[in-house]
Amino acid sequence: MKALILSGGKGTRLRPITHTSAKQLVPVANKPILFYGIEAIKAAGITDIGIVVGETKEEIKAAVGDGSKWKAKITYIEQEEPLGLAHAVKISQDFIGKDCFVMFLGDNLIKDGITSLVKEFQKNSPNAQILLAHVPHPEQFGVAELKNDKVVKLVEKPKEPKSDLALVGVYMFDKNIFTAVNNIKPSWRNELEITDAIQYLIDHDFNVHPHIINGWWKDTGKLDDILEANRIILETMQTKVEGKIDNKSKLEGKVVIEKGAEIINSVIRGPVIIGKESKIVNSYIGPFTSVYFGVTIENSEIEHSIILENSKITDIKRIEDSLVGQNAEILKSKSKPLAYRIMVGDSSRVEVL
Ligand code: G1P
Repeated sequence: MKALILSGGKGTRLRPITHTSAKQLVPVANKPILFYGIEAIKAAGITDIGIVVGETKEEIKAAVGDGSKWKAKITYIEQEEPLGLAHAVKISQDFIGKDCFVMFLGDNLIKDGITSLVKEFQKNSPNAQILLAHVPHPEQFGVAELKNDKVVKLVEKPKEPKSDLALVGVYMFDKNIFTAVNNIKPSWRNELEITDAIQYLIDHDFNVHPHIINGWWKDTGKLDDILEANRIILETMQTKVEGKIDNKSKLEGKVVIEKGAEIINSVIRGPVIIGKESKIVNSYIGPFTSVYFGVTIENSEIEHSIILENSKITDIKRIEDSLVGQNAEILKSKSKPLAYRIMVGDSSRVEVL
């Protein structure tokens, strides 16, 4: 069995972060989202992994490399234009050959992994196995309609969903999916939809097995979802302190301080992770915060946020529910006239007091 991770796409719902960086590489609890997928695939015993890349291919290749970090073999497949998930499958036919495969959307996180799901697929050998989850807003996903535990209809982002069962971004297929992707037409958004390809299998009497998952799953396409993913993963960590803490600082709850990090005269109230070479001075870092590497936070309070690498936050009363990009700088204005002075990237969102 092989795996295919889809890591193209423009990440429009996460701009401006995704103007300069791939959405699959945004770190959750200081680890790129994509790495969780690779680990889940590897844990299920699959080592031959294809990654479909688009515009952000160089960045993805630099982060993932040849897969030796995970003792896996990675093959990159280039998708010249984001023409849909089923198009990504179509261009991966040479890589997959006649094997069965797991298709994993690179921005999806499944907390319990996929090992038991892969076993179930291998045991029952359906033509396809889809994962479904009950969600509060099914209109944002592909939605399944079941009758007597069988899938009868799949619709991509329906205005009036027939159920609350969303398609999770992890699918298992045998070679018949290639017949399907070669026979469907582009949707209204001009994409070859995987949802339509699976509907093709259903309509042509192939066996599409639905598995409803009850564990936690997230499509991390939006800020709130990333913050939620960060919360969930941080809670599962164990305290580990490898950095330097001075005797005026206090660590409370589950806290990870990575190598080379320094905590000076500060309170860190977990669950929190502070990355390599980051420096926290005279500050409070509150629950559900991930600070990536090389960050400096001084005279500030931060809670329920993700701060990306090499950013600098100085003299800020309080930041909450935020995602701060790489190399960003947030500081208190000292020169007169006192005013907000901002250079904000395209499609940014700033809430001020
Ligand atoms: C894609 C699929 C959708 C699925 C979702 C899961 O949507 O098209 O059917 O429910 O992933 O993450 P997208 O996130 O590309 O809009």
